[in-house]
Amino acid sequence: MTAIEAIMKRRSVRKFTDEPVTKETVMQLIDAAAAAPSAMNLRPVRFILMDKHDMAKLAETIDQKQPFEQGQWAIAVCADTRGYTGGTGWLEDASAALENILIAATSLGLGSLWYGVYRRAAKEPQVRAALNLPEGAECTGIAVIGHPAEKKKEHDKVREEFIFESRWCKYKI
Ligand SMILES: Cc1cc2nc3c(=O)[nH]c(=O)nc-3n(C[C@H](O)[C@H](O)[C@H](O)COP(=O)(O)O)c2cc1C
Repeated sequence: MTAIEAIMKRRSVRKFTDEPVTKETVMQLIDAAAAAPSAMNLRPVRFILMDKHDMAKLAETIDQKQPFEQGQWAIAVCADTRGYTGGTGWLEDASAALENILIAATSLGLGSLWYGVYRRAAKEPQVRAALNLPEGAECTGIAVIGHPAEKKKEHDKVREEFIFESRWCKYKI
């Protein structure tokens, strides 16, 4: 599968089968995540690999349980902002890393979900506690990984009205 095919096929999967995913495979996804660009190459992103036991424990404390109960692995994409000198770059770095995980998973035929965490009042405290995050470590989101138990249509081409030429709102004529 080409990179473009994986990007267009990637959809949020919230239901997974029981089929296992090897640790070797999930480590490949983390390699792909760590290869994302990083503002000023400061590399603040850290990964916390969660197995089914960790995921089940987290599921007990959050509203959206299903992906964590059914997925095989979860990768919490975090950043160490202690002493970080790149402004908000860490958030962008972590987001790029998380997206790489989803695209890489799709390219391997796996399903994935971006579970948003950062500044979500109803989720962040539970996630911080589960991951034992110290002050200054932030969790952007969690990628849940497994074999998909739902099939979704790949993405269409971009809507024309989303593209401006030369400057904001200058439509094509
Ligand atoms: C920052 C961010 C946070 C998200 N958080 C969640 C979430 O907590 N739970 C969930 O089911 N989906 C979450 N999603 C997935 C979106 O709902 C999904 O990307 C959107 O509906 C488009 O569908 P698609 O991913 O299949 O293209 C999140 C996506 C992003 C980018």
